[in-house]
Amino acid sequence: MNFRPLLHPLLAFALACPLAAAPAPVSTDPTVVAACLAAIRTPAPPATPRINGTRVVGARPEKPFLYRIPTTGERPLRWSAGGLPRGLKLDPATGIIRGVTPAKQGTYTLRLRASNALGKTSAELDLVVGDTLALTPPMGWNNYNAFRLRISDSLIRAQADAMVSSGLADHGYAYVNVDDAWEGVRAADGTIQGNERFPDMPGLGAHLHSHGLKFGIYSSPGFETCGGFLGSLHYEEQDARAFASWGVDYLKYDWCSYIIDAGRLAADRHAELLPAHADRLRSLAAEYGPMRNDRRRPRPPEMSARMKEIETEQKEILSAIPGETLAAIERDIAIDAYGAMGRALRASGRDVVYSLCSYGFARVWEWGPEVGANLWRTTQDITPRWAPILSIINRQKGLEKWAGPGRWNDPDMLEIGNGQLTPDEMHMQMTQWCILAAPLLLGNDLTKLDPLVLSILTNDEVIAVNQDRLGRQGWLLRQTDAAGLYVKPLSGERWAVAFFNRGETPLEISFDPAELKLPASTAARDLWRHRDLPASPKITFTVAPHGAELVSLTSPAPSP
Ligand code: GLA
Repeated sequence: MNFRPLLHPLLAFALACPLAAAPAPVSTDPTVVAACLAAIRTPAPPATPRINGTRVVGARPEKPFLYRIPTTGERPLRWSAGGLPRGLKLDPATGIIRGVTPAKQGTYTLRLRASNALGKTSAELDLVVGDTLALTPPMGWNNYNAFRLRISDSLIRAQADAMVSSGLADHGYAYVNVDDAWEGVRAADGTIQGNERFPDMPGLGAHLHSHGLKFGIYSSPGFETCGGFLGSLHYEEQDARAFASWGVDYLKYDWCSYIIDAGRLAADRHAELLPAHADRLRSLAAEYGPMRNDRRRPRPPEMSARMKEIETEQKEILSAIPGETLAAIERDIAIDAYGAMGRALRASGRDVVYSLCSYGFARVWEWGPEVGANLWRTTQDITPRWAPILSIINRQKGLEKWAGPGRWNDPDMLEIGNGQLTPDEMHMQMTQWCILAAPLLLGNDLTKLDPLVLSILTNDEVIAVNQDRLGRQGWLLRQTDAAGLYVKPLSGERWAVAFFNRGETPLEISFDPAELKLPASTAARDLWRHRDLPASPKITFTVAPHGAELVSLTSPAPSP
């Protein structure tokens, strides 16, 4: 396998790839390095130009528009585009399209072209000007998995710069999402401001946009975020306007402290259900408020302990309400909270992709689109270990019917490259996130990529399964012991099939296209290795423990 272009200039970095499930330190040991290189499945992209990423982009009429054409190939490259509506301009030297979308709704088919000294290529991109954003799952990066709350303007800029210089942006990664811990205090007029580590939010937005990348930000429907920073409660419209003025393109809106407000609201709105407890809920919320407003950090331990007690007592009171009634109350309160920001973003003058973070609370997938959301977390926070990732995967079962263009289930961010997953587990996470049509938000330090991690994150044929314009989320077709088979319909009457081994020993897993009522002559392609598989009635892989394989299936064209 030829991975030479991938190694240059990355060989300069130490390789971080561990060989076992146990956490491993960054290694320069030649045997570890050799094993990491041997685990690479993805062939390097050709030096000739190739246009990657989605083939369909959604936008609203008369809104600022930005799109960096993801293109691999030897630099310098030149780009041109046919069919660009008036108001949009392409920079031929950077491949970045900017401007304002047309007033008239409809599909504008752009004919994108890229060329370099070795050749040229073209691809069609449908710009659908209508009401729906995120027609394919968002691709980008978020700081939380690698950096938690230790972030700053300069760290985010360095990550964005690395997204471009590493080539990740050439495969479709575009959002640079600042998670919790950017927030400062409100100005006298209520305007939210960045804290001392984020002194220039519009400047940060402009820096990301100068690369053709998108600016993501974080807040909470509660008074306070999960990390104890200011949330947007009662300031939804003002915050949405501030975000828009900074050039924000994406908002992650995290439930967290709203849980206590939810208790008070339940008491106010449904006192008849809680005759014995409504007053208690109100007084718990009243006692909690000032503690939450106390800006001392760290909080005095007795205060933290009391807050925990209040949260527990509230939970106990609410759990006395019969299941279905409580579910309806929670849904009502969540729709209210998330709807307020959804409306504010719509009125903000920018296209802002709206991501709900509520860990599946109140069956968010059922009403997410109603509040204007494009994606919603379905499960608890991810960690870079096999067991929790497996549990997250298991809990996506049955949610596929709620996903589609503009509305995605979000099993949380990628942990690939965070130093704790084996090469097989990293291939497995990427395979699963692609077959599940999950948002592809990188969660690692982009300034410390090794060739193996980069190869897993930049396999364009694997990413194409995730970005397929049909927008269907895959599902578990069958499972026997450790072996799982997932299928995902693709555009053009093709299918993706993932072979998944959750066991501890290598496993032979077979699939017969007849299981999808496809003819025996169906052509199969190994998407990790970019190889057509030899014709055979069955496709069989020996799948590594905790590993996965991915193929596409194309039926022969019907005879005329
Ligand atoms: C919650 C979210 C995480 C992250 C943190 C930030 O835990 O689920 O993804 O945003 O809050 O504090």
